[in-house]
Amino acid sequence: MFTLGINAAFHDSSACIIKDGQLIAAAEEERFTQIKHGKRPIPFSTYELPFHAIDYCLKTAGIHLNDVDHVAYSFDPYLLLEEERGKAKIEIPLEPGMETGPSKWTSPWDPLFLSSIVNAPGQLIDGYPHHLQKRFKGAERNNLQWHFVDHHIAHAASAYYPSPFESSAVLTLDGRGEIATTTYSIGRSNEMTRIGQVDMPHSLGLLYERVTSYLGFLHSSDEYKVMALASYGKPVFVNDFREMIHVKDNGQYTIDNEKFEERFGPTRLKNDPFTQHHFNIAHSLQVVLEETVLELVHWLHKTTGEENLCMAGGVALNCVLNARIRDKGPFKNIWVQPASGDAGTSLGAAIWIDVQEHKEISKNYEMPHAYWGPDYSDEEIEKFLQWAKVPYRKLKNIAEETADILLQDKIIGWFQGRMEFGPRALGSRSILASPINASMQARLNEVKDREDFRPVAPVVLEEDAADWFDKASYSPFMLFVHDVKEDKADKIPAVRHVDGTARIQTVNKNQHTKYYELLQAFKQRTGVPVLVNTSFNTLGKPIVCTPRDAVECFWSSPFDALVIGSYVIEKTYA
Ligand SMILES: [Fe+2]
Repeated sequence: MFTLGINAAFHDSSACIIKDGQLIAAAEEERFTQIKHGKRPIPFSTYELPFHAIDYCLKTAGIHLNDVDHVAYSFDPYLLLEEERGKAKIEIPLEPGMETGPSKWTSPWDPLFLSSIVNAPGQLIDGYPHHLQKRFKGAERNNLQWHFVDHHIAHAASAYYPSPFESSAVLTLDGRGEIATTTYSIGRSNEMTRIGQVDMPHSLGLLYERVTSYLGFLHSSDEYKVMALASYGKPVFVNDFREMIHVKDNGQYTIDNEKFEERFGPTRLKNDPFTQHHFNIAHSLQVVLEETVLELVHWLHKTTGEENLCMAGGVALNCVLNARIRDKGPFKNIWVQPASGDAGTSLGAAIWIDVQEHKEISKNYEMPHAYWGPDYSDEEIEKFLQWAKVPYRKLKNIAEETADILLQDKIIGWFQGRMEFGPRALGSRSILASPINASMQARLNEVKDREDFRPVAPVVLEEDAADWFDKASYSPFMLFVHDVKEDKADKIPAVRHVDGTARIQTVNKNQHTKYYELLQAFKQRTGVPVLVNTSFNTLGKPIVCTPRDAVECFWSSPFDALVIGSYVIEKTYA
């Protein structure tokens, strides 16, 4: 039985395919189209389905759309159409006014938004791009059982079912789903039950998005930059944020809809200089977010009595918050879905439907790694390099020879194996460099054409992680920060953020053999089992997917070398 998962309602559109409890493939649409986040989260783009990601999933499973049994779409429009039920149509105004319609609608554009979702099944059957017709043409609507899955059930399922726990509390936090913005659930074996939720307009995720906009960044996209900015600030405005957020003792909270300009002064526009004032706002927001979520987490722990916590939703990508929950929260173990943003809801929705159909199967959706995207063989890579007349040479030993290049303080593009699912590059589509020289952070920001304040993160051999980073053991997804150990700080200055922390990825041989072997080779030469790892992309572009993307990115940016499969391309200097 094949279940196709689709996320398309807002942004980070994605698809995945599951066959009888086994994940086969998952990918974000942005990687194929090279349009960041796939699309903007606006009603006018809601109809766009992630056809390229769907096509990749079908191809990897070796099937045609007609072979899919169930389609799980990670948004349930009928949660917002209750008052419209029984009516044959909803009105789509030509030019929406200020009336928002039924009580749960929040925007005059909701009719357009909701009708795009209601019509998604027809769009899947008939709206595919011409060049993808091979796996779509001739599919019959009646062959597919379509399921609209509650958005936060999809987030929660993506967190609980692939986690290593047989029993866990589950917390989801994002901007918004249909109505919910925060949910609490309990997972036990193959059952997951929601025990509470916070609804619109009260949303910690939306508050963070609003501050992201206020600070001159792109909301629903650049929230991680606000988190990075926070390290440079002081808690000057914590009382301002505390005054806005009201936490009740039952997991509920409300947030006042304040005008930030009145409280904090004019909005920063993109490209305006950053001042200490901006750093202080970001810092204060981060502090109050952490203390608020800690209160919610304590309530969830007390209510469920569980010792494990699973998390998903865009807010769970805040690795500073996650570390605070790890260090100060009541749960013994935490697992965070690596694709915690909306991309992961295609996975959660598909798992949820697969579970309903296979109640008898024990919980087995393990996710020991995030490498569910496309792979390219040496033959395919070499064929492309020859066709493009790119000068290359074949490596006899990828790990040893790449370590030698890194030893010369060169910055390399590293393209190996199946592409990552989720926003982090984890060694398949990465830019790598030595962490030993402090100037590497600034050099990498220059290579990637991005802001000076942005930190770069380390990857470390799993077996050495605890010697280099405080409380580190197994952390394969870069979702938690750790303090760099004092006695190691001057050995890896490039990856130590201004606050003394680092957002680490641990790697073992089973997760990614070539990546692991490279770290070992670098350790043999330097005694340092750490490399700088940042995503293989440049400003405003998604992570590369194909050999062509990699070569184009490499030649249009100041990288020194590209290690792609068994081949290396090096820039020579006059
Ligand atoms: Fe979401």
